[in-house]
Order: sequence, then C-alpha cells, then structure tokens
Amino acid sequence: MAIERTLSIIKPDATENDNVGGILQLIEKSGLRIVAMRRMHLTKAQAGGFYEVHKERPFFGELVDFMTRSPVVVSVLEGEDAVAKYREVMGATDPKKAADGTIRKLFAKDIGENSVHGSDSLENAKREIAFFFAEADLL
Ligand code: CMP
Repeated sequence: MAIERTLSIIKPDATENDNVGGILQLIEKSGLRIVAMRRMHLTKAQAGGFYEVHKERPFFGELVDFMTRSPVVVSVLEGEDAVAKYREVMGATDPKKAADGTIRKLFAKDIGENSVHGSDSLENAKREIAFFFAEADLL
C-alpha cells in the first residue's frame, strides 16, 4: 500500500462542542499522522468554493451556512492508504449508519452536522489539500 495524504475538516458542530481533541485522538490512534493543521473561520466564498461539486444539490445553501457558522480545523493526514483509512475512521456520512467506534457514530448529530469531512479520492485529496495549504506548509 502507498503512503498517501488526505484532507480532514473538523466541522463547526465539533468545534462548538469541544470535540476537537477527541476527534484528533481517534485519528492518531488509527495510525494516521497529522502533518499540517489550522483552525480557521471559513467565509461563504471559501465554503462555497470548497463544496463547488455540490452546488446544484438541494442542501448546498444549508451546507454553506453550517460550514461558516463557527470555526473549523483543517488538517492534512498522512499514512498508508490514508484516503480510505480516514473514511473508515470517520464512518458513514449519515451518523445513523456509521459503525461503532467511528468519529461520526461517537460525535455527529445528523447527515448535515456530521462533525468531519474527508477527501473521497486521492485526486480530490490533492485538490482539497491545495485549497487550504501551500507547498511550504507541507514539507
Ligand atoms: P462531506 O463529506 O463534508 O461532503 C458533503 C457534505 O454535504 C456532507 O459531508 C454532509 O455534511 C452534507 N450533506 C450530504 N447530504 C446531505 C443532506 N441530505 N442534507 C444536508 N447535508 C448533506
């Protein structure tokens, strides 16, 4: 298996409820390493740009409002098979369907306020990492 990098966003519901530490602990326990990290308050333009692929979805406005409600913590995770591994650690998008022990099962409220985002492919991971981090942040 190859060493990959993936983008994680700890979302506003999780920062509001002080679940950042608990989530980072689950990430590190899984063997993924945090190689860059920043807490920031997204603008509507940033959130809309990041989720541009969902622009035509009925929940797009709700998603942008939610993602700009409070600060988020963006990070780059590195490890073997990092994209798939982080998706396993997060659990299903809908926390009702997430497996026991996953971040979303433990912390998320519903499909909208689902505590974390993770890239869904290596190609998207590269685009998403570049959205938030410069090459110099990732040495
Ligand atoms: P994420 O992995 O960040 O990618 C897109 C996000 O859209 C997703 O997590 C959810 O937070 C959100 N989303 C997906 N489906 C719905 C839905 N039916 N209603 C509201 N938000 C949704």
